[in-house]
Formats: sequence, structure tokens, C-alpha cells
Amino acid sequence: MGATSKQEKLIFSQRRLRLNPHVRELVRQVHLASTQMIQPLFVGEAVRERESIPGLTGTYRESADSLLRQVEQDLELGGVTKFLLFGVPQSKSHAQFDVSFTAGQIESLKKRFGDSIFLSVDTCFCSYSTHGHCGVLTEDHRHVSNEATVTELARAALIYAQAGADCIAPSDMMDGRIGAIRGALDANGYSDRLVMSYAAKFHSRFYGPFRLAADSAPKENASHLKDRATYQIDPACPSDALASSLRDAAEGADILMVKPGLPYLDVISRLTQDIDKPWAVYEVSGEFASIELMAAQGLIDGPRAHVEAWTAFARAGAEMVITYGARYAREWLKI
Ligand code: PBG
Repeated sequence: MGATSKQEKLIFSQRRLRLNPHVRELVRQVHLASTQMIQPLFVGEAVRERESIPGLTGTYRESADSLLRQVEQDLELGGVTKFLLFGVPQSKSHAQFDVSFTAGQIESLKKRFGDSIFLSVDTCFCSYSTHGHCGVLTEDHRHVSNEATVTELARAALIYAQAGADCIAPSDMMDGRIGAIRGALDANGYSDRLVMSYAAKFHSRFYGPFRLAADSAPKENASHLKDRATYQIDPACPSDALASSLRDAAEGADILMVKPGLPYLDVISRLTQDIDKPWAVYEVSGEFASIELMAAQGLIDGPRAHVEAWTAFARAGAEMVITYGARYAREWLKI
């Protein structure tokens, strides 16, 4: 078939660029690679047989044994090499949080897989505390104490570094924690460990499935704080996200993060332009689950929808994506 008849002008200016897969590949401005993805891992001290998590297809609350098997499989089958670990201890406390279970998991992962994996560790206390808040409460239980929490975070970060963590990722949202963590790492010979700050972490409803997985929801009647609104960023206040990110960059964070992703694309776009640092986006549990639940109902093509969301993050300027789909990324990006 040659040119279409003169009378029938099928293709106008822009549509020539969408004409076939070759042209579409050539004009693409955003290129995603599975090497940019970080896979979250949950490991629970009380877990005997690994448990699935509602909405998070393919992600489990692992036992200490199944965690090692899962990471082995991720390396072999999925080509996944970057992870974000969440430890969920059995016994919770009020103040001096016991992070030894998580430290033990870091040790066994690094002993088994060494430098073939890059292991980031979420550093926060909502899974470790009796009340489910992200730090130490003040005596009157009206606030999360900034100073006491930062001291605990720096202590935990050092223990994780000693256990072999490559990257410390504080998600608590206290002020000044990046400087305190960087200082503790540097003073003890761990200046080679990275700090990835949950810098622009919003007070979001999209963390629902995660809180089941991490046993980390604020417990009713355990404090005067009914939610995390006094420490996480208000969804209607993007300038707070900018100020918090500038602060964390100045305190020495190596990587900054926006979380959640899709509802905050404006924030990702603005911050990546304004602050010249590597940026991560967390496609959080509720975002991931929304796509999975729609796909389960036959309403959308799940893998293609995830790739579309990841493309939006890269388009907005992010270098890396933390997603429950990292272990499928290599497969999905080929579709
Ligand atoms: C812990 C933490 C949360 C997430 C990551 N670290 C939950 C929260 O702040 O309540 C959410 C991750 C997700 O929803 O996938 N502070």
C-alpha cells in the first residue's frame, strides 16, 4: 500500500509520531529500567509460615527463613538487587525500642548475599512501639517527643549499620534526624553508608495495607494522638514538603523521597527541579493495591497500569521508585 488518496488526509502533524512502535520508541523521553526499582521486604518475628498481605500481590510478611528464600529468588528470577527492609518485632515497648530482631535479619541477609544486594533499612518505631506512633511519646502522651525520638533513631541507625545495612532510611518525620543519623554513622566509622530520607512524606490515607503488614497502625486509646497529623506533612501544604526536603538535604541526606507518588506528582515535579539531589518516589501500599484490586476485578491491565504509574514518576523527575512490583519490573517492562 502506498500513500493514501489525496482527498483523505489520515495523519496530521502529531499523529505521525505515534504511527508505529518504531517511531514511538524513537521519540520517547522517559526510559524506565528495572535497575531503578527498590523492592520492600517485610519480616516478622512472630511469623512462622509467610503470610500474604491483602492488596499487595506477591509481597508477604516473611519469616526469618522465607525472607532469605525470597531474596534468593528475587536475585535469580527477577534480577532484583535493591531492597528496603521493614522489621516487625514481636515484643513492643514504650520508649527504648528493641531493634535486635531487625538487626539480626540485616546480618543474615548480608552474610548470605553480601554485596550482591543493596540493603536499605526503614528506620522508624511505629512497628516497635506499644502505641503505634513513630517515636517516643512525651510523658503526657500528647506528642511524639522530637529529641527523645531522634536519639533513639540515631542509636537504631548505628545498630543497623553495624549489622551491615548499606542505607538508612528514616521514615519517622522528626526534625533534625538526618543530621543526628549522619553524625552517629560518621563518628563510628560508617561514613560509607547512605542516608535516604523520607523527606516529603505526607499524612496519607494510602498507607492502609502497609499498616496491616507492618502491624504499625496507631493504637486507639494508647495516646492522645489519634493519627500522625502532628508529624507527617499535611497533603494541602506543599511548601512544607519543600522546606523539609531542603532541611534534609542540608543535613546530609544522600537521597530524598516523595511519598506517596501518584497523588503528589506536582510535588515530585517541583522538588526534583528545585533540589538537585537524587530523588526516590514510594509507590505506597494503597496506590499499589488500588491497581491490583482493579485488575482483580478485570477492570484494568495491572502490569501496564503499574508501568504507566512508574513512567509518571520518571517523567516528573524521579531517579528511582520504591514499589511492591519491583520483583516483576523486568517482566512488566518488556510488555
Ligand atoms: C513507617 C512507614 C509507613 C510507610 C513506610 N514507612 C507507614 C506510615 O507512616 O504510617 C508506608 C508504606 C506504604 O504504605 O507502602 N512510618
